Amino acid sequence: MELNRETIPQYLQERHLEIGFFDSDAELISEEIGDGNLNFVYRVYDAARPTCSVVVKQAPPYIKILGPDYPLPPDRLTYESRSLKIYNQFASQAVPTQHYFDSDAAVIVMEDLRGYRLLRDNLVAGIVDITVPEQIGCFMGKVHSQTYTENLDSTTADKYREDFGNTVMQSITADYVFTFPFMEHETNFYSDGLELDVKRLKTDDVFLQHARNLKSIFLTEQHGLTHGDLHTGSIMVKDDAAKVIDSEFAFYGPVGFDIGLFWANYLLSYFSHTGNTDVQSEIKTAIIQTWETYTEEFEIDPILKTRTLNTIFHEAVGFAGMEMLRRIIGAAHVKDIESIQDKEKKLSIETNILKFGLFLVKERKNITTVYKLVESL
Ligand SMILES: Nc1ncnc2c1ncn2[C@@H]1O[C@H](COP(=O)(O)OP(=O)(O)OP(=O)(O)O)[C@@H](O)[C@H]1O
Ligand SMILES: [Mg+2]
Repeated sequence: MELNRETIPQYLQERHLEIGFFDSDAELISEEIGDGNLNFVYRVYDAARPTCSVVVKQAPPYIKILGPDYPLPPDRLTYESRSLKIYNQFASQAVPTQHYFDSDAAVIVMEDLRGYRLLRDNLVAGIVDITVPEQIGCFMGKVHSQTYTENLDSTTADKYREDFGNTVMQSITADYVFTFPFMEHETNFYSDGLELDVKRLKTDDVFLQHARNLKSIFLTEQHGLTHGDLHTGSIMVKDDAAKVIDSEFAFYGPVGFDIGLFWANYLLSYFSHTGNTDVQSEIKTAIIQTWETYTEEFEIDPILKTRTLNTIFHEAVGFAGMEMLRRIIGAAHVKDIESIQDKEKKLSIETNILKFGLFLVKERKNITTVYKLVESL
């Protein structure tokens, strides 16, 4: 059942008792707000009380922007709903409340984060709020450690593995982050002038071996509940609140992937603000603060803590490098860079990002602390 603006009010009314949000006779109005690629997202509000609203997200059995010829299993919303439940259990302040989930129709009804903005938009505008990395570091530290294999009995760990065996979405990420950008592929695109750098990457055997290793870690390590798509467009912020959305890629995997993506997108922003030393210095602090908060919140037997956090750190650095590279030469670019109008400046920034991404991938094991990481910038 594919919902649309006209059918959503009736769909919600028929379920108003389970959803427990609107009065049974409320006149509901819906508008499409989703700017994403994969799913439909609507805001629905009570005509008499417009501030009384919810967000309805539905996954069609295909990629929304490409249409029915491009199938994608709608059970991706089952993983989003399941992860929202776990997030609510361990870090409820960091996610929207889930009001209702319909697995047959692949629909989630959730809290409307009205008045929030995407973190990416703030960073593009040069607004770097230090409480955001603290909150996201805290969110990751709590969720990762509370779902970490070493902290669980084997039955609970098996249950996480089973509940979050999101293999289709995981393999899409594996292709688009670790493989396609570094081969001839129809979805790749990049600025004129980067051809030589791209050719060098594609023929750098040492780099390609690192990329294969990181891909293998991504696909096989099963350590904790990983959001799987925690870039700055999956976080909404308002005042000093930060909320994590869009966890349809959630899987049981190497948790450093979340930190890596989060850092990489701050780093992309860092390079996009070349020439603005104030913003760049705030971004460096944000990267440090993410890790400081993460390590404080990460609860584990003290004997295991140093070793565990070291592994997570080095993997995060490598994943951050891969994410930076693919956002410049792969299928999915970021607004932070694409919005740079001056072509020459953009090319020079992109060249520097490729250099730094490559450095992170190759040197991840030699970068020992988050301070060393930002000093390398
Ligand atoms: N709970 C919410 N409250 C307010 N706005 C929201 C909420 N959830 C999503 N949005 C808005 O809808 C947009 C799309 O949501 P989301 O990222 O979950 O969709 P998606 O189709 O899965 O995106 P993608 O193609 O990036 O995977 C968000 O960028 C945000 O602007
Ligand atoms: Mg999504």
